[in-house]
Amino acid sequence: MDMVRLDPPAELTMPIGEAMFSQRAMRRMDPSRPVTDEQLEIVLNAASKAPNGGNAQPARYLVIRERAAIEEFGKLYFEAWWAKRRDAYGWTSKADIPEGSVYRLPALLADEMVNAPVVILVYSEPSGVAASSTFPGVQNLLLSARAMGIGSVLTTLHPQVMDRVNAMFDVPEEMVFHCCIPLGYPRGNFGPTSRLPTSATTSWGHWGEAPPWK
Ligand SMILES: Cc1cc2nc3c(=O)[nH]c(=O)nc-3n(C[C@H](O)[C@H](O)[C@H](O)COP(=O)(O)O)c2cc1C
Repeated sequence: MDMVRLDPPAELTMPIGEAMFSQRAMRRMDPSRPVTDEQLEIVLNAASKAPNGGNAQPARYLVIRERAAIEEFGKLYFEAWWAKRRDAYGWTSKADIPEGSVYRLPALLADEMVNAPVVILVYSEPSGVAASSTFPGVQNLLLSARAMGIGSVLTTLHPQVMDRVNAMFDVPEEMVFHCCIPLGYPRGNFGPTSRLPTSATTSWGHWGEAPPWK
């Protein structure tokens, strides 16, 4: 096992609080600003440091950076996104999405995936491993990208396209897919997110009892 890299990469100097508190979903990437192989090595290294059950390290990452492949994948992502909305709500086009729906922005990502400079597909080895051993690494990946000014958004696919996606990239049938992460310098700004106050999500001592802050 590679134990060499103990020091954090010099590129990751942003305070962790700033990275966490300004990271938000970036769905529109700037195709003219490339993400380098060195930066990808850093985000994958950061992902590798995350907690995982029994240190079995089941997560596997497929990095797609060839333009033609991303364009082809982007079409499958578009199909997958709309298949999810069809299954859940019967929607088949943007005209079906109600005004003010939280799905208006994700629908934009369905159009924009073809422009992502990089897409990372996250899988795990099949040995009975849950997504819970994969997602801490995903979060490290997203935060380390943020620290370098690189935007990302976590998204998923749909069973309707999985065979074609896996065939495109020679992914063995037994690998378990978890999520898809486009990466790129954003057309848009990092900034505050809108979240429930922790007083609304946290119980203190017993379920339903408020924490000592508003
Ligand atoms: C499991 C999961 C699935 C998601 N799926 C999508 C998706 O299909 N399309 C999309 O645009 N964003 C997707 N997102 C991103 C969320 O929409 C985003 O994190 C959330 O709306 C908060 O956005 P903000 O950080 O910009 O405030 C997903 C996030 C998670 C954790």
